[in-house]
Amino acid sequence: MPPRDTTDAQLAAQYEAFPYPARDPREEAKRLIIGSPSHLREIDHWIFGARRPASQPLNALMAGGGSGDGTIMLAQQMTTLNRPGRVTWLDRSTEARRIAEARARTRGLTNITFEEGSLLDLPRSGLGPFDYIDCCGVLHHLPNPDEGLAALASVLAPGGGIGIMVYAPHGRTGVYMLQEALRLLAPTDEPPATRVETGKRVWKQLPETAWLKRNPWIDDHLKGGDSGFYDLLLNPRDRAYTIPQLAALVAGAGLRIACLVEPLRYNPDTWLTDPKLRARTAGLDPIARAALAEALCGNMGIHIAYLTRDEAPKADWADDAAIPVLRELDGPAMARALRPDGLLPVTFDSLRVQIPLPRLAAALLTRIDGRTPWSEIVSSIPAPADQITRDRAALVAALEPLNRLLLAAP
Ligand SMILES: C[S@@+](CC[C@H](N)C(=O)[O-])C[C@H]1O[C@@H](n2cnc3c(N)ncnc32)[C@H](O)[C@@H]1O
Repeated sequence: MPPRDTTDAQLAAQYEAFPYPARDPREEAKRLIIGSPSHLREIDHWIFGARRPASQPLNALMAGGGSGDGTIMLAQQMTTLNRPGRVTWLDRSTEARRIAEARARTRGLTNITFEEGSLLDLPRSGLGPFDYIDCCGVLHHLPNPDEGLAALASVLAPGGGIGIMVYAPHGRTGVYMLQEALRLLAPTDEPPATRVETGKRVWKQLPETAWLKRNPWIDDHLKGGDSGFYDLLLNPRDRAYTIPQLAALVAGAGLRIACLVEPLRYNPDTWLTDPKLRARTAGLDPIARAALAEALCGNMGIHIAYLTRDEAPKADWADDAAIPVLRELDGPAMARALRPDGLLPVTFDSLRVQIPLPRLAAALLTRIDGRTPWSEIVSSIPAPADQITRDRAALVAALEPLNRLLLAAP
């Protein structure tokens, strides 16, 4: 399908000139870029409730896969954990494909299929159905994001799920003002390289009062190279979603939000400890609660959400045969670093919160290695059974909302 309109054609030209994000395939020999959505542990936990067997092949789609961050992460995690299935990269950008393919080659990954095309063609593409679909940083650039999400939903397998990232307005304070200025000085019909050159001149001259200069949470224009600068400030089309707007987008595609990442950030009670206020937050529905947290914090520049068609199965934390896993954390190292006051300091985009951990946190964390089931973990702790049960539940209550303690696929 050709671009939908002039702006969409400019968007397509942008990602040919500046594939996003800027990546050097040689770096794959040194590090794996990890993130959300689409971390395999998150998919197992938040979409499938840790009930879908690891031996069942996972057919995944990365819609608007770009230069390949999510594709490479998921394909590598599946390879490392010996998980069967395939990851299909889909994007309109030939240059982004070239980089993503080179990254896959550097890693020797053989579980990726590359498809060039528009995600809006998915309903007629013959691709799918997919058990999992990633769409990270793409929907908000489309001429009609509702149509985009509906196109993804049309190739979603029964019981499957979607991981999305869309921009959020408050944490992007200053971005849209500068975009407005740059549309006047670097019009969207000029060649991408000329626009970047002009944009950088403007950035150098920007008065101190410009809100983006005061926004500590956004740095793509400073650290993301020309590709980051363009994507943030010269993008011909992007829009940001508040939580109620995101909820409407999701509902419009016949989907529901299974999880907002990290759940703790979207719980207003994380930020409001006054019992009188908590009595009020208790009366709000889940979307209103998340909207309140977003409005209170003011620092959210993106929303990451896992979506399902039907209610996602909840992980069964009481199952003694289940295997807990710390997402990208080393349990023993974490146990050693615990503070005597039992508080775990956590920071979300410069917003600090202290999470109380139970007495047996260190004993539990030391034993969580992603291979050992709860039954073995608890039977090796020298403490009364009721205390272990209580503290295990308290550890889960503290770390699951941080997206850090999850259950592994059986
Ligand atoms: C900001 S990049 C995100 C890349 C990647 N998902 C990530 O998070 O690193 C947006 C990507 O969406 C792609 N894109 C935009 N519109 C598209 C469409 N209609 N169909 C497929 N890809 C599209 C662009 O080519 C670009 O690679």
